[in-house]
Amino acid sequence: MCGIVGYIGFRNASDVLLKTLKRLEYRGYDSAGVAIINGSLQVEKKKGYIDALSIDFEGTIGIGHTRWATHGAPSNENAHPFVDCKGEIAIVHNGIIENFMELKEELLKSGHIFKSDTDSESIAHLIEEYGEYPFRAAFMKAVRRLRGSFAIAAIKVGERKIMVAKKESPLVIGIGDHENFIASDIPAFLEYTNRVVVLKDGEFAELEEDSVTIYDNNGKEIHRDVTRIDWSVEDAEKGGYEHFMLKEIFEQPRAMEDTLYALESRELFSLDIERVNIVACGTSYHAGLTGKYVLEELLHVPVSVYYASEYRYMAAVEDPALTILITQSGETADTIGAAKRAKELGNITVGITNVVGSSITNYVDYVLYTNAGPEIGVAATKTFTTQLAVLYYFAIRSALSMRKLTRKSAERLLSELHRMPYYIEKVLDEEESIKAEAQKIANANSMYFIARGLNYPVALEGALKMKEISYIHAEGYPAGELKHGPIALIDNGMPVIALVPEDALYEKMLSNIKEVTARDAYVVGLSSNGDVEKWVNSLILVPHTQPLFTPFVNAVALQLLAYHVAKTLGRKIDKPKNLAKTVTVE
Ligand code: M6R
Repeated sequence: MCGIVGYIGFRNASDVLLKTLKRLEYRGYDSAGVAIINGSLQVEKKKGYIDALSIDFEGTIGIGHTRWATHGAPSNENAHPFVDCKGEIAIVHNGIIENFMELKEELLKSGHIFKSDTDSESIAHLIEEYGEYPFRAAFMKAVRRLRGSFAIAAIKVGERKIMVAKKESPLVIGIGDHENFIASDIPAFLEYTNRVVVLKDGEFAELEEDSVTIYDNNGKEIHRDVTRIDWSVEDAEKGGYEHFMLKEIFEQPRAMEDTLYALESRELFSLDIERVNIVACGTSYHAGLTGKYVLEELLHVPVSVYYASEYRYMAAVEDPALTILITQSGETADTIGAAKRAKELGNITVGITNVVGSSITNYVDYVLYTNAGPEIGVAATKTFTTQLAVLYYFAIRSALSMRKLTRKSAERLLSELHRMPYYIEKVLDEEESIKAEAQKIANANSMYFIARGLNYPVALEGALKMKEISYIHAEGYPAGELKHGPIALIDNGMPVIALVPEDALYEKMLSNIKEVTARDAYVVGLSSNGDVEKWVNSLILVPHTQPLFTPFVNAVALQLLAYHVAKTLGRKIDKPKNLAKTVTVE
């Protein structure tokens, strides 16, 4: 999704903007641009990658943008920044302006000339339209006319300041010494400062080199504390790994430990839970679906899991329930929309997110953080296993407080949860054998991932990882469902990845494997039981854990499998085509 950056201070703005934009590349984009003031406004913007920009502008104040096309195709004209008619005001925008058609019509009537097909360009013209006011007032007046979602930054010739506004799109401010930064995400400016101010929806900020002033929607000055971020630049960089995804896969033991430590260092709210709804998108949805099995097993309460994009518009959702919204970024538009709806419906809401101060935290009653550190690879890995850690921890602690578990049983489960980093290490030790397996299946056109019960969502997640980074068609199915249709596609050598934990459904899984080997599938089993080797073409051995905890080890093995298939095929692993890390549009 689009990323925005801005800088005001004493350094060369071109250098800072290019570096900070580079750190937002992981969000996905199709064009990039910057605007810098050095007496006059200098703008460079192009379709394609940041490296295509040739910038040698002087100047110490500027804004930059990476665009992920929504309104208008990727092109030089549709790239940001956009400039007003006089060439004095430049803006960058992330989000969608829903009323841009009506604004554009009005602006065209007053003589403005548009050069792009975008919704964003109207913002530059609208600020110009309020030109009789000082820049700050003109900016605020223009922003108040906008409907939709936005993070906006604007600069104007003759004004040594950056004006910003935020509503439902991410925007953070970095506070330096005699310099200040803005970005869509903290890692962008972490090299320069770890002091951060998070803007809330409806707020404005005015950045000068020695001050940052925040205003509410009515233009009244407000105070906001500065947060110190304890991630290092290294945390946000590759640290010797070929890809962020691989680094993040290998960070999982530490991420799990940090997450559990942080959960245990806080007092967990206790709720009397009768029903649970879980709402999320993508990988977070798969974590939620796994959470359903765990919560139902431990709390004995019904749990429904919804895609956020569906939940938002369902004619009727079940009675008020504890509603858990899962989003690693905390900025996914559909999940934020679902959080609002859940509140309107009278639910108690809990958000699970990886990003402190992200938008979701403003819309829920309680927040539980995954402490995974920044995740840069588009494919979610460590945020998935830490989401599982939070859900397991929450389920065990809630079951204990609701007297559904004895203290002894809860302690036994918690101590197994604490052993997960160790088991994940064991899976990571198997990287070479998983890579060998990946190389055998990398030429397939299509794959199935099958499992039963608690591991069915892990099969879905394995298939999602495979398709998003390798571009091989992959589907996850409950193993018992294959013969109701999908088995029709199995033919000679088609890979079927079968998750075979040693649980109550072990034998049923073996029967399902027989069904596909009988049709010449190439079955890769994942199991802690070496006997499975007799039933499959190839076995990936994973460590033995209690059945309830098998999703952790299986998920990590499948991440490595997808990674090595994609690597064998030479794919752009950290930035797969068509995908964005943070999906801030519906
Ligand atoms: O930030 P979120 O957890 O809300 O993101 C939801 C999905 O876009 C995300 O999980 C996506 O499916 C993954 N990047 C896939 O690996």
